[in-house]
Amino acid sequence: MAENKSIHGVWQNRWTFILAATGSAVGLGNIWKFPYMAGENGGGAFVLIYLVFVAAIGIPVMLAEVMLGRRGRQSPINTMKTLAKSSDASKFWGGIGWLGAIAGVLILSFYSVIAGWAMAYAGKIIGGGLLDQTDIPSQFGAFVSDPVETVLWHSLFMVMVLTVVAGGIHKGLEKSVQFLMPALFVMLILLLGYATTTGSFGEAVSFLFKFNPEALTADAVLSALGHAFFTLSLGMGAIMAYGAYMPKEHSLGKTVVIIGVLDTLVAVVAGLVIFSIVFANGLDTAAGPSLMFKTLPVAFSQMPGGIVLGGMFFILVTFAAWTSAISLAEPAVAWMVETAGFSRIKAALVVGIPVWLLGIACALSQNIWSDVTILGSDLLDFLDKLTTNIMLPLGGLLIAIFAGWIMRRSHVVKEVAMKNFALFNIWIVMIRIVAPIGIAFVMYNSIEAWLVFINK
Ligand code: PHE
Repeated sequence: MAENKSIHGVWQNRWTFILAATGSAVGLGNIWKFPYMAGENGGGAFVLIYLVFVAAIGIPVMLAEVMLGRRGRQSPINTMKTLAKSSDASKFWGGIGWLGAIAGVLILSFYSVIAGWAMAYAGKIIGGGLLDQTDIPSQFGAFVSDPVETVLWHSLFMVMVLTVVAGGIHKGLEKSVQFLMPALFVMLILLLGYATTTGSFGEAVSFLFKFNPEALTADAVLSALGHAFFTLSLGMGAIMAYGAYMPKEHSLGKTVVIIGVLDTLVAVVAGLVIFSIVFANGLDTAAGPSLMFKTLPVAFSQMPGGIVLGGMFFILVTFAAWTSAISLAEPAVAWMVETAGFSRIKAALVVGIPVWLLGIACALSQNIWSDVTILGSDLLDFLDKLTTNIMLPLGGLLIAIFAGWIMRRSHVVKEVAMKNFALFNIWIVMIRIVAPIGIAFVMYNSIEAWLVFINK
């Protein structure tokens, strides 16, 4: 245990870790999911609760995950096994790794479908005349109801993900993230500039930030918590797996704060842009998963050079999704390489093929199989809720308890390596008390919500 290097290699330096972890965190969750969830849950209060969860639970849990990963230096499953052993704790804690690896592949199956939609939109904007249509928002319905097209784009995205995963994530990921993340930021700032000219920017600001507690249902609180985990890639081992490749000598506190802030900025800017367009064009705030696809093309159609910018934007969204998707597969793949002795290629295929098949079912659940429901949701929606609202928070809860209560304190102190004692103590309080109680409380409501749902 605690060798200086993982068998999968290490990042070149702290910045590559920050880039890779930001690449994992920033993805469809920020640009596609956050705006529509804010819209469905009434805006302001949801956003504020989400921000509180990111700061008070997400960032402390992220620190814990990186710390555990760097200490264990293996895939999350084996890391958790090893760390439980070295703290004389029950084998049960190894289950955190399993829960996470399974959550990761389940998320990947539907994530790839949405990423396929984004890729298709890049193609439609550049080559397909989408922006010339008179009613751009309604084009989405026609696209998503096409089983062949949506399955093909999903398949292409899965091939892209598995290629990088099979080749080893260091080379590919470090290079692509260094260039693509900044490009995505620039693009978002450009869109933000556009948003201020729509005449509805103020309305978007007040929709996203006006505290309207009357809109805050138990369900919205639960979604906000789940989303805080989803958007930061927490609770399933992605960040733990990346932490295993982190060089020893760096302090973790600043690193995780930078990642959390970058991730939040992207989501907030995306939200401001999308809602400016929604209000300027009289669209529906509660459009759901189709929101991004119904709004952003409208903006590009009104801009000079919109075809190029729009095409580029959706390509960047695809890349952002790509770097996230790679981290979704990594815990399962790394475990197979370590434990079964598979080559990375073989492990990527063994993990990837079932995920691809499940993804096909998700794509079809939006068209020919839309009548098939599980607990009232279509398959895509069901997998999203199961993972985001249950599996990730549960993983986060167990990680917090393990890092705060189970692991030897001397190991924790050494690994976190925070020089500022006061900050370290704040983190300890967060991870021991605030995070577990917060998550347990919201999860309890979630169980209730699901029971009510099933009995309906
Ligand atoms: N954080 C990614 C996003 O926001 C999704 C993700 C979730 C990636 C969990 C890894 C683990 O798009």
